[in-house]
Amino acid sequence: MTLSMKDKILKRFLLASGEPISGQYLADELGISRTAVWKHLQSLQEDGYTFDTIKKKGYLLTNKLDRVDAASIASFLSTERFGQSIHYLDECASTQTIAHELARNGAKDGTIIIAESQTAGKGRMSRPWESTKGKGIWMTVIIKPDVLPHQAPQFTLVAAVSIINAIKSLYSNFTPVIKWPNDILVNGLKCTGILTEMIAEMDRVQALLIGIGINVNQQQEDFPEELHTIATSLSIEENRVLNRAELVGTILNYLENYSDLYVKEGFGPIKKLWEEASGTIGKQIKATTLTEVIEGKAIGITESGVLEIQLDNGEVRSIYSADIEL
Ligand code: BTN
Repeated sequence: MTLSMKDKILKRFLLASGEPISGQYLADELGISRTAVWKHLQSLQEDGYTFDTIKKKGYLLTNKLDRVDAASIASFLSTERFGQSIHYLDECASTQTIAHELARNGAKDGTIIIAESQTAGKGRMSRPWESTKGKGIWMTVIIKPDVLPHQAPQFTLVAAVSIINAIKSLYSNFTPVIKWPNDILVNGLKCTGILTEMIAEMDRVQALLIGIGINVNQQQEDFPEELHTIATSLSIEENRVLNRAELVGTILNYLENYSDLYVKEGFGPIKKLWEEASGTIGKQIKATTLTEVIEGKAIGITESGVLEIQLDNGEVRSIYSADIEL
Protein backbone atom coordinates (compact mmCIF):
# COMPACT_ATOMS: atom_id res chain seq x y z
CA MET A 1 0.00 0.00 0.00
CA THR A 2 1.27 3.43 -0.91
CA LEU A 3 0.90 5.26 2.41
CA SER A 4 2.78 8.47 3.14
CA MET A 5 5.30 8.29 6.01
CA LYS A 6 2.91 10.20 8.24
CA ASP A 7 0.11 7.72 7.46
CA LYS A 8 2.47 4.79 8.09
CA ILE A 9 3.19 6.17 11.55
CA LEU A 10 -0.51 6.77 12.23
CA LYS A 11 -1.35 3.22 11.11
CA ARG A 12 1.22 1.82 13.62
CA PHE A 13 -0.50 3.74 16.42
CA LEU A 14 -3.99 2.68 15.33
CA LEU A 15 -2.90 -0.97 15.34
CA ALA A 16 -1.06 -0.65 18.68
CA SER A 17 -4.46 -0.68 20.47
CA GLY A 18 -3.65 1.48 23.45
CA GLU A 19 0.01 0.47 23.86
CA PRO A 20 2.79 3.09 23.71
CA ILE A 21 5.35 2.91 20.87
CA SER A 22 8.90 4.17 21.27
CA GLY A 23 10.26 6.83 18.94
CA GLN A 24 13.44 4.79 18.44
CA TYR A 25 11.42 1.71 17.42
CA LEU A 26 9.43 3.74 14.85
CA ALA A 27 12.60 5.36 13.52
CA ASP A 28 14.35 1.99 13.10
CA GLU A 29 11.34 0.26 11.60
CA LEU A 30 10.57 2.99 9.10
CA GLY A 31 14.20 3.85 8.35
CA ILE A 32 13.93 7.54 9.34
CA SER A 33 15.52 9.67 12.07
CA ARG A 34 13.93 10.22 15.48
CA THR A 35 13.63 13.91 14.60
CA ALA A 36 11.62 12.95 11.51
CA VAL A 37 9.33 10.77 13.66
CA TRP A 38 8.84 13.67 16.04
CA LYS A 39 7.99 16.04 13.16
CA HIS A 40 5.34 13.63 11.84
CA LEU A 41 3.84 13.36 15.34
CA GLN A 42 3.68 17.17 15.50
CA SER A 43 1.88 17.19 12.18
CA LEU A 44 -0.59 14.51 13.38
CA GLN A 45 -1.24 16.65 16.46
CA GLU A 46 -1.99 19.60 14.20
CA ASP A 47 -4.60 17.35 12.50
CA GLY A 48 -6.21 16.76 15.89
CA TYR A 49 -4.64 13.50 17.10
CA THR A 50 -3.31 13.63 20.66
CA PHE A 51 -0.35 11.73 22.13
CA ASP A 52 0.89 11.29 25.70
CA THR A 53 4.59 10.78 26.35
CA ILE A 54 5.07 7.78 28.64
CA LYS A 55 8.46 7.74 30.38
CA LYS A 56 10.84 5.07 29.04
CA LYS A 57 8.09 3.65 26.83
CA GLY A 58 7.38 6.21 24.16
CA TYR A 59 4.27 7.79 22.70
CA LEU A 60 0.68 6.78 23.33
CA LEU A 61 -2.18 7.73 20.98
CA THR A 62 -4.88 9.01 23.33
CA ASN A 63 -7.69 9.72 20.90
CA LYS A 64 -8.79 8.21 17.63
CA LEU A 65 -10.28 10.70 15.23
CA ASP A 66 -13.38 9.58 13.43
CA ARG A 67 -11.91 9.92 9.94
CA VAL A 68 -11.95 7.67 6.91
CA ASP A 69 -8.35 8.51 5.99
CA ALA A 70 -5.95 6.05 4.37
CA ALA A 71 -4.24 4.99 7.61
CA SER A 72 -7.53 4.34 9.44
CA ILE A 73 -8.89 2.23 6.57
CA ALA A 74 -5.58 0.38 6.05
CA SER A 75 -5.67 -1.00 9.57
CA PHE A 76 -8.78 -3.02 8.61
CA LEU A 77 -7.71 -4.22 5.16
CA SER A 78 -6.73 -7.74 4.18
CA THR A 79 -6.78 -7.17 0.41
CA GLU A 80 -4.16 -7.44 -2.28
CA ARG A 81 -5.46 -4.69 -4.58
CA PHE A 82 -8.65 -3.04 -3.33
CA GLY A 83 -7.95 0.00 -1.16
CA GLN A 84 -4.20 -0.29 -1.74
CA SER A 85 -4.38 3.18 -3.25
CA ILE A 86 -6.65 5.58 -1.35
CA HIS A 87 -7.41 9.18 -2.32
CA TYR A 88 -8.83 10.78 0.82
CA LEU A 89 -10.44 14.21 0.66
CA ASP A 90 -12.03 16.37 3.27
CA GLU A 91 -14.53 17.69 0.74
CA CYS A 92 -15.20 17.33 -2.97
CA ALA A 93 -18.08 17.84 -5.40
CA SER A 94 -18.50 14.11 -6.11
CA THR A 95 -16.10 11.18 -5.72
CA GLN A 96 -17.51 9.87 -9.04
CA THR A 97 -16.14 12.86 -10.96
CA ILE A 98 -12.68 12.42 -9.46
CA ALA A 99 -12.83 8.69 -10.20
CA HIS A 100 -13.55 9.41 -13.88
CA GLU A 101 -10.42 11.56 -14.10
CA LEU A 102 -8.21 9.07 -12.26
CA ALA A 103 -9.53 6.07 -14.22
CA ARG A 104 -8.77 7.81 -17.51
CA ASN A 105 -5.27 8.55 -16.25
CA GLY A 106 -4.22 5.02 -15.43
CA ALA A 107 -5.51 4.50 -11.85
CA LYS A 108 -4.91 0.94 -10.70
CA ASP A 109 -7.60 -1.71 -10.15
CA GLY A 110 -9.11 -1.22 -6.68
CA THR A 111 -8.17 2.47 -6.28
CA ILE A 112 -10.62 4.28 -4.02
CA ILE A 113 -11.67 7.89 -3.69
CA ILE A 114 -13.32 8.71 -0.39
CA ALA A 115 -14.46 12.03 1.05
CA GLU A 116 -15.76 13.28 4.39
CA SER A 117 -18.35 15.31 2.50
CA GLN A 118 -19.61 15.92 -1.04
CA THR A 119 -21.12 19.18 -2.19
CA ALA A 120 -22.72 17.69 -5.33
CA GLY A 121 -23.19 13.97 -4.53
CA LYS A 122 -24.85 12.12 -7.43
CA GLY A 123 -27.59 9.52 -7.09
CA ARG A 124 -29.13 7.35 -9.78
CA MET A 125 -31.27 9.02 -12.45
CA SER A 126 -29.46 12.34 -11.92
CA ARG A 127 -30.88 12.73 -8.42
CA PRO A 128 -28.85 14.57 -5.78
CA TRP A 129 -27.30 12.46 -3.01
CA GLU A 130 -27.20 13.89 0.51
CA SER A 131 -23.65 13.49 1.85
CA THR A 132 -23.48 14.94 5.39
CA LYS A 133 -19.96 15.76 6.55
CA GLY A 134 -18.21 13.09 8.59
CA LYS A 135 -21.31 10.95 9.03
CA GLY A 136 -21.33 8.55 6.12
CA ILE A 137 -19.25 6.64 3.65
CA TRP A 138 -19.02 8.52 0.37
CA MET A 139 -16.65 6.61 -1.85
CA THR A 140 -16.00 5.39 -5.37
CA VAL A 141 -14.09 2.19 -6.11
CA ILE A 142 -12.39 2.00 -9.51
CA ILE A 143 -12.34 -1.58 -10.73
CA LYS A 144 -10.85 -2.87 -13.94
CA PRO A 145 -12.18 -6.37 -14.46
CA ASP A 146 -11.65 -8.22 -17.70
CA VAL A 147 -15.35 -8.24 -18.70
CA LEU A 148 -17.58 -7.07 -21.54
CA PRO A 149 -19.66 -3.88 -21.35
CA HIS A 150 -22.98 -5.78 -21.05
CA GLN A 151 -21.71 -7.41 -17.83
CA ALA A 152 -21.21 -4.05 -16.10
CA PRO A 153 -24.64 -3.90 -14.38
CA GLN A 154 -23.89 -7.20 -12.64
CA PHE A 155 -21.14 -5.43 -10.71
CA THR A 156 -23.80 -3.37 -8.98
CA LEU A 157 -25.07 -6.67 -7.61
CA VAL A 158 -21.51 -7.76 -6.71
CA ALA A 159 -21.20 -4.49 -4.76
CA ALA A 160 -24.59 -4.94 -3.09
CA VAL A 161 -23.75 -8.44 -1.75
CA SER A 162 -20.32 -7.21 -0.60
CA ILE A 163 -21.85 -4.33 1.36
CA ILE A 164 -24.63 -6.44 2.85
CA ASN A 165 -22.21 -9.13 4.01
CA ALA A 166 -19.85 -6.52 5.48
CA ILE A 167 -22.76 -4.96 7.39
CA LYS A 168 -23.96 -8.36 8.62
CA SER A 169 -20.48 -9.35 9.76
CA LEU A 170 -20.08 -6.22 11.90
CA TYR A 171 -23.53 -5.43 13.33
CA SER A 172 -26.17 -7.61 14.91
CA ASN A 173 -29.17 -5.50 15.95
CA PHE A 174 -30.87 -5.40 12.54
CA THR A 175 -31.21 -7.26 9.25
CA PRO A 176 -30.42 -5.34 6.07
CA VAL A 177 -32.05 -6.44 2.80
CA ILE A 178 -31.27 -5.65 -0.83
CA LYS A 179 -33.92 -3.95 -2.92
CA TRP A 180 -33.29 -4.62 -6.61
CA PRO A 181 -30.97 -3.65 -8.02
CA ASN A 182 -28.91 -1.54 -5.70
CA ASP A 183 -30.53 -0.19 -2.56
CA ILE A 184 -29.95 -1.58 0.89
CA LEU A 185 -32.85 -1.12 3.26
CA VAL A 186 -33.38 -1.63 6.97
CA ASN A 187 -37.00 -1.89 8.13
CA GLY A 188 -38.12 -0.45 4.80
CA LEU A 189 -35.83 2.60 5.01
CA LYS A 190 -32.84 3.20 2.75
CA CYS A 191 -29.36 3.22 4.28
CA THR A 192 -27.23 2.58 1.17
CA GLY A 193 -27.25 3.46 -2.52
CA ILE A 194 -24.93 2.28 -5.29
CA LEU A 195 -24.25 4.07 -8.56
CA THR A 196 -22.25 2.13 -11.14
CA GLU A 197 -20.77 4.04 -14.07
CA MET A 198 -18.61 2.66 -16.84
CA ILE A 199 -15.77 3.79 -19.09
CA ALA A 200 -15.75 1.45 -22.08
CA GLU A 201 -14.99 0.85 -25.70
CA MET A 202 -17.48 -1.11 -27.83
CA ASP A 203 -16.10 -4.49 -26.79
CA ARG A 204 -14.04 -3.83 -23.68
CA VAL A 205 -14.59 -2.35 -20.23
CA GLN A 206 -11.79 0.02 -19.30
CA ALA A 207 -13.05 0.76 -15.83
CA LEU A 208 -16.13 0.49 -13.66
CA LEU A 209 -16.75 3.24 -11.15
CA ILE A 210 -18.69 1.82 -8.25
CA GLY A 211 -20.07 4.73 -6.24
CA ILE A 212 -21.16 3.72 -2.75
CA GLY A 213 -23.12 5.98 -0.41
CA ILE A 214 -23.83 4.65 3.09
CA ASN A 215 -25.62 6.51 5.87
CA VAL A 216 -23.56 5.43 8.87
CA ASN A 217 -23.61 7.80 11.84
CA GLN A 218 -26.40 10.26 11.07
CA GLN A 219 -29.09 10.71 13.67
CA GLN A 220 -32.58 11.53 12.51
CA GLU A 221 -32.07 15.31 12.89
CA ASP A 222 -29.06 15.14 10.53
CA PHE A 223 -31.34 14.18 7.62
CA PRO A 224 -33.30 16.86 5.76
CA GLU A 225 -37.02 16.78 6.54
CA GLU A 226 -37.99 15.20 3.20
CA LEU A 227 -35.83 12.13 3.90
CA HIS A 228 -37.25 11.38 7.37
CA THR A 229 -39.74 8.82 6.06
CA ILE A 230 -37.40 7.35 3.44
CA ALA A 231 -33.89 7.13 4.94
CA THR A 232 -32.17 5.69 7.97
CA SER A 233 -28.59 5.21 9.16
CA LEU A 234 -26.80 2.12 10.42
CA SER A 235 -26.13 3.94 13.72
CA ILE A 236 -29.85 4.58 14.28
CA GLU A 237 -30.56 0.88 13.69
CA GLU A 238 -27.58 -0.48 15.69
CA ASN A 239 -28.07 2.09 18.45
CA ARG A 240 -24.43 3.16 18.83
CA VAL A 241 -21.82 5.25 17.03
CA LEU A 242 -20.07 3.10 14.42
CA ASN A 243 -16.49 3.01 13.14
CA ARG A 244 -16.70 4.09 9.48
CA ALA A 245 -13.12 3.09 8.61
CA GLU A 246 -13.80 -0.44 9.88
CA LEU A 247 -16.85 -0.68 7.65
CA VAL A 248 -14.95 0.65 4.59
CA GLY A 249 -12.12 -1.86 5.14
CA THR A 250 -14.56 -4.74 5.58
CA ILE A 251 -16.50 -3.78 2.43
CA LEU A 252 -13.28 -3.66 0.40
CA ASN A 253 -12.26 -7.09 1.73
CA TYR A 254 -15.58 -8.56 0.54
CA LEU A 255 -15.59 -6.58 -2.71
CA GLU A 256 -12.19 -7.86 -3.83
CA ASN A 257 -13.22 -11.40 -2.95
CA TYR A 258 -16.57 -11.30 -4.75
CA SER A 259 -15.25 -9.44 -7.82
CA ASP A 260 -12.59 -12.11 -8.22
CA LEU A 261 -15.20 -14.83 -7.68
CA TYR A 262 -17.37 -13.26 -10.39
CA VAL A 263 -14.50 -13.06 -12.89
CA LYS A 264 -13.49 -16.68 -12.14
CA GLU A 265 -16.86 -18.41 -11.86
CA GLY A 266 -19.36 -16.09 -13.49
CA PHE A 267 -22.58 -14.68 -12.08
CA GLY A 268 -23.91 -17.96 -10.55
CA PRO A 269 -22.40 -17.66 -7.03
CA ILE A 270 -23.20 -13.91 -6.87
CA LYS A 271 -26.82 -14.54 -7.95
CA LYS A 272 -27.17 -17.03 -5.08
CA LEU A 273 -25.75 -14.58 -2.50
CA TRP A 274 -27.93 -11.80 -3.89
CA GLU A 275 -31.12 -13.88 -3.74
CA GLU A 276 -30.35 -14.89 -0.14
CA ALA A 277 -30.15 -11.21 0.83
CA SER A 278 -33.00 -9.99 -1.33
CA GLY A 279 -36.04 -8.31 0.11
CA THR A 280 -37.62 -8.11 -3.36
CA ILE A 281 -37.99 -11.68 -4.63
CA GLY A 282 -41.39 -13.22 -3.91
CA LYS A 283 -42.95 -9.81 -3.18
CA GLN A 284 -45.71 -7.95 -5.00
CA ILE A 285 -44.01 -4.89 -6.48
CA LYS A 286 -44.54 -1.83 -8.65
CA ALA A 287 -41.73 -1.09 -11.12
CA THR A 288 -41.55 2.35 -12.73
CA THR A 289 -39.37 2.28 -15.84
CA LEU A 290 -38.63 5.23 -18.12
CA THR A 291 -41.63 4.30 -20.28
CA GLU A 292 -44.18 2.43 -18.15
CA VAL A 293 -45.37 1.21 -14.75
CA ILE A 294 -45.46 -2.56 -14.29
CA GLU A 295 -47.13 -4.27 -11.30
CA GLY A 296 -46.70 -7.92 -10.41
CA LYS A 297 -44.76 -10.45 -8.36
CA ALA A 298 -40.95 -10.35 -8.46
CA ILE A 299 -40.01 -13.94 -9.22
CA GLY A 300 -36.24 -13.77 -9.56
CA ILE A 301 -33.21 -12.35 -11.29
CA THR A 302 -31.74 -13.89 -14.39
CA GLU A 303 -28.12 -14.87 -14.96
CA SER A 304 -27.55 -11.35 -16.21
CA GLY A 305 -29.07 -9.62 -13.19
CA VAL A 306 -32.32 -8.67 -14.92
CA LEU A 307 -35.39 -8.62 -12.65
CA GLU A 308 -38.33 -10.82 -13.72
CA ILE A 309 -41.86 -9.82 -12.81
CA GLN A 310 -44.88 -12.04 -13.27
CA LEU A 311 -48.06 -10.12 -14.12
CA ASP A 312 -51.54 -11.19 -12.91
CA ASN A 313 -52.22 -12.75 -16.33
CA GLY A 314 -49.15 -14.99 -15.94
CA GLU A 315 -46.98 -13.12 -18.43
CA VAL A 316 -43.33 -12.69 -17.30
CA ARG A 317 -41.67 -9.34 -17.98
CA SER A 318 -37.94 -8.57 -17.76
CA ILE A 319 -36.91 -5.30 -16.13
CA TYR A 320 -33.50 -3.82 -16.87
CA SER A 321 -33.77 -0.55 -14.99
CA ALA A 322 -36.58 0.81 -12.83
CA ASP A 323 -37.58 2.29 -9.51
CA ILE A 324 -39.16 -0.38 -7.35
CA GLU A 325 -41.89 0.10 -4.75
CA LEU A 326 -42.78 -2.83 -2.51
C1 BTN B 1 -28.55 5.98 -5.45
O1 BTN B 1 -29.20 6.83 -6.10
O2 BTN B 1 -29.12 5.21 -4.68
C2 BTN B 1 -27.04 5.89 -5.62
C3 BTN B 1 -26.33 6.81 -4.68
C4 BTN B 1 -24.80 6.76 -4.83
C5 BTN B 1 -24.11 7.77 -3.95
C6 BTN B 1 -22.62 7.64 -3.96
S1 BTN B 1 -21.82 8.57 -2.68
C7 BTN B 1 -20.26 8.25 -3.39
C8 BTN B 1 -20.43 8.35 -4.89
N1 BTN B 1 -20.26 9.72 -5.32
C9 BTN B 1 -21.39 10.24 -5.78
O3 BTN B 1 -21.53 11.41 -6.20
N2 BTN B 1 -22.37 9.32 -5.77
C10 BTN B 1 -21.91 8.04 -5.24
